[in-house]
Amino acid sequence: MKNILVTGGLGYIGSHTVIELIAHGYSPIIIDDLSNTNIAVLQQIQKITSKEVPFYKNDIAEQGLLEKVLRAHAIDGVIHFAAFKAVGESVKAPLKYYDNNIGGLVALLKAMQKCDVKNIVFSSSCTVYGEPDVSPVNELSPIKKANSPYGNTKQIGEEILFDCPFLNTVALRYFNPIGAHPSALIGELPLGVPNNLVPFITQTAAGIREKLTVYGNDYNTKDGTCVRDYIHVVDLAKAHVKALDYIQKNAGNTFEVFNIGTGNGFTVLEIIDTFEKTNHLKLNYTIGDRRAGDVEKVWANTDKAKNVLGWSAELDLTSMVKSAWDWQKTLS
Ligand code: WQD
Repeated sequence: MKNILVTGGLGYIGSHTVIELIAHGYSPIIIDDLSNTNIAVLQQIQKITSKEVPFYKNDIAEQGLLEKVLRAHAIDGVIHFAAFKAVGESVKAPLKYYDNNIGGLVALLKAMQKCDVKNIVFSSSCTVYGEPDVSPVNELSPIKKANSPYGNTKQIGEEILFDCPFLNTVALRYFNPIGAHPSALIGELPLGVPNNLVPFITQTAAGIREKLTVYGNDYNTKDGTCVRDYIHVVDLAKAHVKALDYIQKNAGNTFEVFNIGTGNGFTVLEIIDTFEKTNHLKLNYTIGDRRAGDVEKVWANTDKAKNVLGWSAELDLTSMVKSAWDWQKTLS
């Protein structure tokens, strides 16, 4: 397997994954509608890798174009990132999420079936666990009712793929990706007001936002703020290479899921504290109301990824928040 179609490949996780694919001998081809990123990311990828990466600006719902690209590049496998991913936003705009995340996936799978492309790595999420009864969660933990339309689109996406045994699927359940490439040439690039915690922190530190609001400090956690498993985006990118390697070695296995986290849970206030201490600055924040759709605490048991994929996270929280700030400083 060599030629890999990366949908959403100019996005935050997609762009970091394209770099790791090239580093490991794969040939990525990118399709992205640029709805949540910027074409300049393509140039940065080429600067980092010294490789020209074929790019198509298009909505993946256009099945005809998908078939054209799958055939023109003799695609062997697909990594499917193209989806909206903000929990809070999905509560406010559910149909935007169902249309794009489910409609886009179905169009992609129909094109793959027509072109006899069988291998897919699916960008899933820890939000499929809803509010887990206990953490850490493993891959056999109950799939509870998702707390947000975003999480539900990931649950439905996994179910669709499970029902397509003509595919070889690996679903990676991401926890909370943060940080940026060590070159500081690419990173998280939220358009408009960030939904996610760390870009809001870095934009506040950069003076772009006046202050950060911590969404609730009355949860049943060590300091009252929510707990998440934050993972460096470069570690997450490397997990996708391992997933492709796994598919090649296990062609008969049509569906497998893996938690991709660090196994450590940190509260919002711990993230703020680590950010301040690592980057030697004080952050302006206040405590506000809870955000609809948030789960109280979730972090990963990562034994399966370690033992079956041969992957573990290597980068710590300090390097995550340092790289995030180094990247933000290039934007200001
Ligand atoms: C984290 C914590 C907020 C913003 C993300 C991705 C989703 C999925 C899971 C991959 C929560 C708090 C946030 C702010 C805050 N990952 N927060 N003030 O909701 O866990 O979801 O990880 O699929 O795609 O979106 O991440 O960064 O939005 O929130 O207090 O301004 O930070 O309440 O407790 P979330 P997040």
